[in-house]
Amino acid sequence: MAVKLLWYLTSPDGPYPWLESGRWDTDYEHLQQIAITADRLGFYGSLMGTSEYETLAVAASLIPFTERLKFLVAQHPGEVQPAVLAKYAQTFDAFSKGRLLFNVVNGNDKGLAALGIHYTHDERYDFSKEYWTAFQQNYLGDRSGFEGEFIQIAPRLESGSPMSKWSGPTQKQGVPLWGAGTSAKGVQHSVELLDVYLSFANTPPLLGEKFSKVSDEAAIIGRTLEFGTRLQIIVRETEEEAWQYAQSLLDKIDLNYAIEAVKRQLPPNETFESYHSSNPIVQRNLTLLRHGVLPRAKDFEIYPNVWTGPSLFGFDILNPAAGTALVGSAENIAERIKEYESYGVSAFILSGFPLIGEAYRVADLLFPLLELDHGFELPKLNKNSSIDSLLNQEIVV
Ligand SMILES: Cc1cc2nc3c(=O)[nH]c(=O)nc-3n(C[C@H](O)[C@H](O)[C@H](O)COP(=O)(O)O)c2cc1C
Repeated sequence: MAVKLLWYLTSPDGPYPWLESGRWDTDYEHLQQIAITADRLGFYGSLMGTSEYETLAVAASLIPFTERLKFLVAQHPGEVQPAVLAKYAQTFDAFSKGRLLFNVVNGNDKGLAALGIHYTHDERYDFSKEYWTAFQQNYLGDRSGFEGEFIQIAPRLESGSPMSKWSGPTQKQGVPLWGAGTSAKGVQHSVELLDVYLSFANTPPLLGEKFSKVSDEAAIIGRTLEFGTRLQIIVRETEEEAWQYAQSLLDKIDLNYAIEAVKRQLPPNETFESYHSSNPIVQRNLTLLRHGVLPRAKDFEIYPNVWTGPSLFGFDILNPAAGTALVGSAENIAERIKEYESYGVSAFILSGFPLIGEAYRVADLLFPLLELDHGFELPKLNKNSSIDSLLNQEIVV
């Protein structure tokens, strides 16, 4: 089996952007540089996650700077009318030669309410199912309208005027829909709708267990999904270097930062003092924190090369979540990715900070050790050039 590697393309960037001191001003020019880097190194695509800039606008603005890179654009159903999004997607695909993917995000109730979308948790998934069905029909050129519980679209008439026509779908099967959802309703929605089911990472066996349940649910309705995960990455030539770097990130934070991170992850009715973890590694780290000791980087390794240290997406001391990282030599990480693959994972959305420098490391060290399913031949990095010279290369737009 081969894998797809995607790179994160969202602000903020910086060497450790979860702290103000390590955060850069990630303006439009900087996003262009990240896009050019990911494209030219041969990543399959880039995740445009929710951030300070609107994902659709950022993705469209980066089309002219890229040739092959696909844009996995986070989109909450309901932000834009489905027929409008369909016309947008046709336009995006016409201009980019079919490089649009959507990440179907269903967010949280409060966040969506602030965007004017008011559905309860379960309703939101029913709405989402209708929304994306209507979207896909319109994208594929079906003008007959849509009569749903939440969405009603009148038939679209095209007069003889060339201005009344839509440009048409570039991706003949529709825009691939990626997305997540762990609750029962979220899984049902995913298996009915998605092409690629995503989850934040866990250890390979636990992630495999989750995916296997989703796969079984999909099989019941005769569907087959692909599976993908999201991981931070610290890859270096040697294992020691990688862990030293992880330690240098941990050295940037203090005991209080770690305790606050634990408190954010506590289940309801538990306190920092009362919580007990059945995972001995987590329990040992909690005991150290309670004694005023910040554990070492290696202490947050919950499985070989799987790390729950600080990240832009959280410091998940109690349970792996959005910030889970792979740490190790290229050989270590290739082995771990192959282990995830053995559990059915075929897409890896990676990020390391700063995004440009770490993208080079991944392409230089890791790409050659994996079989990649990117649909094009990978550009060859010069075998004789060191990573430092690569990082100092001038990038020409
Ligand atoms: C890989 C990945 C990327 C995500 N990106 C976003 C995002 O950009 N914006 C957002 O609001 N939610 C994002 N989410 C969150 C999901 O949409 C969803 O809210 C979350 O997965 C729900 O939690 P659950 O998986 O426990 O059901 C992402 C989730 C995953 C797994």
